[in-house]
Amino acid sequence: MLKIGNLVLKVPFIQAPLSGYSDYAMRRLALDFGAPLTFAGVMLAKSAAHPKILRKPDFQPHEDEHPVGAQIFDNDMAMMVKAAKDLQDTGYDIIDLNFSCPTPKVVSRKRGGWMMNDPDIVLETYKRVRDVVTCPLTIKVRIGFDSSEYSYDYFYEIVSEVSRLGIDAITIHGRTVEQRFTGPSNWDILAKVKDEFPNLTIIGSGDLFEPVDIINKLKTSKIDGVQIARGAVGNPWIYKGLIDVWEGKPAPETPNLAEQAEIMKKHFDMISKLYDRKKTVWYFRKFVVRYCRLHPMRKHVLRSLIAAKTGQELIDSIDHWYSDNEKVKSD
Ligand SMILES: Cc1cc2nc3c(=O)[nH]c(=O)nc-3n(C[C@H](O)[C@H](O)[C@H](O)COP(=O)(O)O)c2cc1C
Repeated sequence: MLKIGNLVLKVPFIQAPLSGYSDYAMRRLALDFGAPLTFAGVMLAKSAAHPKILRKPDFQPHEDEHPVGAQIFDNDMAMMVKAAKDLQDTGYDIIDLNFSCPTPKVVSRKRGGWMMNDPDIVLETYKRVRDVVTCPLTIKVRIGFDSSEYSYDYFYEIVSEVSRLGIDAITIHGRTVEQRFTGPSNWDILAKVKDEFPNLTIIGSGDLFEPVDIINKLKTSKIDGVQIARGAVGNPWIYKGLIDVWEGKPAPETPNLAEQAEIMKKHFDMISKLYDRKKTVWYFRKFVVRYCRLHPMRKHVLRSLIAAKTGQELIDSIDHWYSDNEKVKSD
């Protein structure tokens, strides 16, 4: 069980916010496979605070997906406050403030991860948003902006102060902002922080791909939960695997080809309902790349699926490659 404010989650595995990926379709699949909470990708507060933009379907939570979280970033505190309140009022169940995004376009505008350079602004933003929203409120940070000592001190200052303020939870990605996604995520730091702040609810992030390894990281660091990010792209089965291993069962086998095909088609069907038809095949490709990794003939399958130009061609290709193992081997 994982408690984040008034949210009580049966298992401590959350679908991470993933910009460009964790739309309703991905979130719905994560829920179907057992994730007790999912997040939409980060939104710029200035956009989320704009009524016309907030009313767009992409920004709205769906009725059948609660609890669902929204995440925002901005260097404008008033915008963060307004966006958080508006997102809560539009139906999101939890708000997360992003101080972790390393994208150059974001960092160069002093948003997201750049803010790890300024603990005062991070803490003031958190306090002001806390004053106006009643739903659970969390923040996501990295272990510093870069590997300098003062950068770590800033990280430490943020963690100790939000802990003192009784934050609902903090998500820590065990890399610096400067590292972006290179090098291993530092789980020792997460364990150290948990040891020092045992009452702080800590969600870990970074290099979470395999159920057995994830449960091991969770148990050895003694943190409270994890955010599954790249590990869930084209692999919603990861949640079922996590629950099995968490309950002491063996890790499940890779889903068979028929199951893989069923979920890919379901995913594509949801995407087709969410977006303009012209965009769907192209948009789905980034998921196809990941789904194919589970197929024994991934290179051939990927080449064929990526070549599909229409939805029907994609479905035909899935039907061909995923119909049965024996046929595929002789192709
Ligand atoms: C394509 C992509 C988009 C991401 N978008 C977000 C985002 O919107 N908000 C966020 O907090 N983290 C975002 N992240 C970071 C992930 O949530 C996660 O913290 C990071 O990928 C480390 O976990 P992993 O190594 O298990 O993937 C993104 C990562 C990737 C690869």
